[in-house]
Amino acid sequence: MSDLKSALGQAAASAFSALGLDPALGRVTLSDRPDLADFQCNGALAAARTAKRNPREIAAEIAQRLGGSPLVAAVEVAGPGFINLKASSTALSARANALFADPRTGAPMRATPRRVLIDYGGPNVAKEMHVGHLRASIIGESVKRLHRFLGDDTLGDAHFGDWGFQMGLLITACAEADSKVAATLEALNSAPEPSEPEIEAAIALFAAHIHLEDLDRLYPAAAARAKAETDYRDRARRATAELQSGAAGYRLIWRHFAGLTRAALERDFRALGIVFDLWRGESDVNDLIGPMVEELKAKGLAFEDQGALIIRVARNDDKRELPPLIVVSSEGSAMYGTTDLATVLDRKRLYEPDLVIYVVDQRQSDHFEQVFRAAELAGYAAPGQLVHVGFGTMNGVDGKPFKTREGGVLKLRDLIELGLAKSRERLAEAGLGGELDPEAFEATALKVAVAAIKFADLANFRGTSYVFDLDRFSSFEGKTGPYLLYQAVRIKSLLRRAAEDGGSLGPIAVAEPQERELVILLDAFPSAVEEAESKSAPNAIAEHVYRLAQAFARFYAACPVLSARPDERDSRLALAALTLRQMEIALDLLGLEAPERM
Ligand code: ARG
Repeated sequence: MSDLKSALGQAAASAFSALGLDPALGRVTLSDRPDLADFQCNGALAAARTAKRNPREIAAEIAQRLGGSPLVAAVEVAGPGFINLKASSTALSARANALFADPRTGAPMRATPRRVLIDYGGPNVAKEMHVGHLRASIIGESVKRLHRFLGDDTLGDAHFGDWGFQMGLLITACAEADSKVAATLEALNSAPEPSEPEIEAAIALFAAHIHLEDLDRLYPAAAARAKAETDYRDRARRATAELQSGAAGYRLIWRHFAGLTRAALERDFRALGIVFDLWRGESDVNDLIGPMVEELKAKGLAFEDQGALIIRVARNDDKRELPPLIVVSSEGSAMYGTTDLATVLDRKRLYEPDLVIYVVDQRQSDHFEQVFRAAELAGYAAPGQLVHVGFGTMNGVDGKPFKTREGGVLKLRDLIELGLAKSRERLAEAGLGGELDPEAFEATALKVAVAAIKFADLANFRGTSYVFDLDRFSSFEGKTGPYLLYQAVRIKSLLRRAAEDGGSLGPIAVAEPQERELVILLDAFPSAVEEAESKSAPNAIAEHVYRLAQAFARFYAACPVLSARPDERDSRLALAALTLRQMEIALDLLGLEAPERM
C-alpha cells in the first residue's frame, strides 16, 4: 500500500516521462502553503533548465495530464512553474480507510531485516550518571525502538563501565574505610584458592558492610584524593592491576560493586521506560585484549612509538590530522579505545551484528573514528558497519553542561523525583487527574514526567544542544510531551464515551478541511519513520506526532463527533481511533506512553 504522496509522485513521474522528460522530476512533497494546496511538485523548474523551455509551459502540460488522475481534485500552476495539487476526497477517504485497516497505520516493514546492536547509555559503576548518559539513554532507546519497529533484530547494550581505574579507587577506599573488609580482601587475595565457605562469607560481609550510599560517598572523595596524593593514586593503580589480573578478593568485591550499581540503575532506567537487552561490561572483554594486542602486532598494524603501542589511522585525504589510536599506553595499560576495539571483536563473536550503532556524545567522535578505522584495518568490521550517532549537550541556563544548583551532576534518581514533583504540580494546576485514586494518579504523574523529560530531548535534532527547563518541558501547552499525552487521553475518553453511546468505527468519508488536513498528516507517517531511521533522528517522529496532535485538536474543535449524523459520527470516530493508534505508535517509538485517563 503506497502513501498518497508517493502515489501522486508516481502519477507526476509518468506525466514527465510522457513529455520525454526525466521521471525523477515528478517528486511530490507536502505543500509549503497548506492554505493553497495539499501537495506540490517543483519538477517543471528543473525540467525547463535542461530542456531550455519555459517552466510555466511545462508545468501547464504536466498539470493537464495530472488533472485526469482520480487522485487529484484540482491542479494549478503557480508562480514561476510550481504545480499545486489538491487531493481528491475519494483518494483521501480511500487512504484513510486503508490506514485504519493497517495495524501499523501505513509504516513499512524492512524487506531484509538486519541484526542491529545499539550501544547506548554507557553508565559506569559508582561514578554518577551525568546528562551525557541521560541523552545517550533517551536517544539510544528511541533509535533501538525504531529499528525494532521496522523489523530489525535489535539488541540494546548498556556497555556498562565496570572496569578500569575507578574500580581500583573504590577498592582502596572501601578497604581503608572498613577494617573487616580490608582483612577479608587480604585473606582472599593471598589464599591460593579460596574455599566455597570463605567465598560465601566474604560475599555476605560485603553485602552487610558496603551499600550503594557508601559507593556514592566514597567514590568522589577517593577520586579527589588520587588527584592530590601520588601515594594514594599508586595504591589504587596497584589494586586495579591486581583486580585485572584476577586477585580473588578484588574480583569478589568488584562483583558486589557492579551488582549494587546495576540494580539501582536498572530500576531508574525502567522508570524512564529504558530497558537494555544486554548489560555487557567493559570487564567482559578483559581477556580478549591480550591476544588481540598480539594479533595486531603480528599483523604489523600496531607498533611501538615513544614507549606506547599505537595504530596509525590517519588517511591521506583527511581534512585534519587524526591522531593514532593508542592501544597500550607507555605505562603499560590498555586504553578506552582498546576496550572498544576488543568489544567490536566480542560482539562479532557473540552476536554477529550487521550494524552497530554507538549513541554517544558527539565530543567523542574522534575516538570512534579512530576505533572504527582500526577495526576496519584489522578486519574486525566492514566499512559502514560501525556507526557513531553523536549528540549535543543538555545545558543549564548558563549555557554550560547542566549541573545541579549545588554544582554537582544530576543523579538519575533525583531527575525522576524532580520531574515527578513538577508533573504532580502541573496536573493539579490544569485540574487533571482529580478523579484518579492515589495509585493511578502517581502512575499518571510518572508518565507525564517521563514524557516531559524525554520529549524535550527528542524534539530537537540530536546534534543540537538544548537548555534544561523542567518548568517549560512539563507544561500541558506548547510543544511538550505532556501536551501530546493530553491529546491522546482526550481521544481515549472520546472513544469511551462513543462506545457507551453506541457509536461504531467507520467507514471514513473525508469532507471537511480539518479532516483533509488530518488525513494528509496521517499519510505522512511512513516518511517520518523513514527519515528518523535513515538519519538516526527521532526528532522526525517527535515533529510528526506533535503536528498530528495539533491537527487532531483543530479537527476536534471544528467537527462535532458525538452529535453528528450517525454515518458522519462513525467516520469521525474511526478517524479519531486511527489518529490515536498512530500517535501511540509514534509515542512508543519515542519511548513514551499515554495514560488511559488524566
Ligand atoms: N562509559 C563511558 C562514559 O561514561 C561511555 C561509553 C560509551 N560507549 C562506548 N562504546 N565507548 O563516558
